[in-house]
Formats: sequence, C-alpha cells, structure tokens
Amino acid sequence: MENIKIAVDGPAGSGKTTTAKIVAENLGYVYIDTGAMYRAVTLKAMRDAVKFDDASLAEMMQSTEIELRTSDRGQRTILNGEDVSEDIRLPEVTKNVSPVSAVGCVREKLVAMQRELGRAGAVVMDGRDIGTEVFPNAELKIFLVASVEARAERRTLELSRSGIEFSVEEIKKQITDRDHYDSTRKISPLRKASDAVEIDTSDMTIEEQAIIIIDAARKIIKA
Ligand code: CDP
Repeated sequence: MENIKIAVDGPAGSGKTTTAKIVAENLGYVYIDTGAMYRAVTLKAMRDAVKFDDASLAEMMQSTEIELRTSDRGQRTILNGEDVSEDIRLPEVTKNVSPVSAVGCVREKLVAMQRELGRAGAVVMDGRDIGTEVFPNAELKIFLVASVEARAERRTLELSRSGIEFSVEEIKKQITDRDHYDSTRKISPLRKASDAVEIDTSDMTIEEQAIIIIDAARKIIKA
C-alpha cells in the first residue's frame, strides 16, 4: 500500500496546516488545505455582498471556481483566476467563515472537489470533516487537539508575523466562538472520527507532532 490518504482534522490553531504540510513533504504526498477553500468561498460572498443563506450562496457557487496551485511560494489559493492566498487569512474572512461553511450547498460543492482531488491517494488533507465525511475510509486519521491557551498563543504569533495585531485574549475568544460554531452545526460538524488517532499538541513542537504522523503513515504504507 503506497498511496494512502491521510486525514488531519481538529479545531482552530491546533497546528493542522503546518503539520500536514511537513508530513506531505516528507512522504512526497500532495497537501490539500480544505480550510483555504471555505475561506475563498467566504471571501467571494463578502466581496459580492451575497447573503449567507442556501439560495443566495447556491447561485454564487455557480460562478465560483476555486483552484489550489502549487508554486515556489507554497500552495496558493486561486479564486476565479485571482490569487487570494493572503486575503483569505484576513480577520474579516476568519470571522465569517464558519457561518458560510455551515451552508449545505457550499459543503456539497467543496466536498465533491476534495474527494476528486484526493481520489488517487498519496494525499494529506486537513480540515474539520475529512475523516468523518470527505474520506471516511482514509487509511490514517489524525485528530489534533491542544489547549485553547496554546492555540490562541500560536495564532496570535502567526497573525503578528503578517502584521495583524490582536491580544491573546481576543484571539482566544475568536477561536472559542469558531470552534463552537463548527462543532454544533447540523452538517458535518467538527468531531473526532471513532477510528482517528488523537494527538494533544499543547506541549509539542510542530516537528514532534509531524514525526508521530509520519511514523504512523510509514507503518501503514509498509504493511
Ligand atoms: O486554520 P484554521 O484552523 O484557522 O481554520 P481553517 O482550517 O482555515 O478553516 C477555516 C474554517 O473553515 C473553519 O473554522 C470551518 O468553519 C471551515 N472548514 C470546514 O467547515 N470544513 C473543513 N473541512 C475545513 C474548514
């Protein structure tokens, strides 16, 4: 078994993206950031002043093309031909992404795209519902968790590096609210798949958590 699917799910700031990227690079796999896709749809809805309801978003989705492109600057998110990789990380987008992601037509279209992108395997996909909904048969499922304090500190630092300043307390509130929204929505809420391996990353470095996943993946690949 060489081309397995690795699902990495977990709440905001648990280190999914950074870890999943390292794992993919190490295994020579493709990395797919599904959060970036939900963020791009949210950005489009905000720019076009589209209401966050099923009918309005369904119409918008007909003229929404999202592409994930690999470049020498890493993975880029392309929305209708425009590189929006920076804009999708803006605080306004982060604030609105959960309500948009909870809408059925948005999930339907993006989940279909994600299944297609990962169909051949050799993929590390991160998000909220990868192990439960997108690839319930993934050979390896990881659920990353960390204390809200650790997650808020990491996210505050990350934003500060891109020139966006928030206090740790503000970020703590934002991620707590988003986790609550993501975990209680009706369609594909954030939850650990029963066969997922849970890793608490509160006191781990990115390298440490990546090594645990790489080792687990190699064992499955060898078997
Ligand atoms: O990186 P961070 O944890 O802040 O979030 P993200 O992975 O970029 O995801 C942003 C938002 O998209 C989440 O808060 C969810 O509302 C939504 N999302 C989702 O519903 N399903 C996924 N598979 C991935 C993200």
